Amino acid sequence: MNIHYLTLFPEMYQGVLNTSILGRAKEKGIVNYHAVNFRDYSGNKHNKVDDYPYGGGAGMVLKPEPVFNAMEAMDLKSPRVILMCPQGRPFNQKMAEELSEEEDIVFICGHYEGYDERIRTLVTDEVSIGDYVLTGGELASMTMTDAIVRLIPGVLSREESHQEDSFSTGMLEHPHYTRPREYRGMEVPEVLLNGNHALIEQWRREESLKRTRERRPDLLSDQ
Ligand code: ADE
Repeated sequence: MNIHYLTLFPEMYQGVLNTSILGRAKEKGIVNYHAVNFRDYSGNKHNKVDDYPYGGGAGMVLKPEPVFNAMEAMDLKSPRVILMCPQGRPFNQKMAEELSEEEDIVFICGHYEGYDERIRTLVTDEVSIGDYVLTGGELASMTMTDAIVRLIPGVLSREESHQEDSFSTGMLEHPHYTRPREYRGMEVPEVLLNGNHALIEQWRREESLKRTRERRPDLLSDQ
């Protein structure tokens, strides 16, 4: 998979994409990341990428030329083009699963009051990572990248498997325990110690359901 980021701050990506599982996925050749500064495609001698809104009003608007020019220079066959935007469809695990099967993903990350509306003609999806406003789309695109890349076959090891993740199963995960068996007076539940796998499975299912009911009842009514 190739993931492209159209951004004014390509340096923001360096640490995140080269670290831990995202970095390892790149080293394994499973994914490649390309952070492109669209200021290089402004098409004007002052490298201007934003301008005042027609009709007046506060804030600047991202001009169409830098984004169109950068997209044309990339010349991708049939990419998913995702506009990072608080007005977009809320990102979730199902979307991450679907995007993990793509060949090329482009994230368009603005830092402005808005995008010139014509930019939206290049876009296949508008996505928000939550009901809050960030200073720009970069952190949102990195969050999405993290959720997507870990789902690509070969990225996680067997121990890190995502099959039982919260949300993949439609429910939150059950509680986990490791050694020591007793810590500061807190005991590991007896059922996990007796080696009866059927009972352990049953306990985990019940705990998972209980936790989902308590914390995210909306997940149960979605099914
Ligand atoms: N850009 C600014 N806020 C955002 C959000 N919540 N999601 C995606 N992109 C954004």
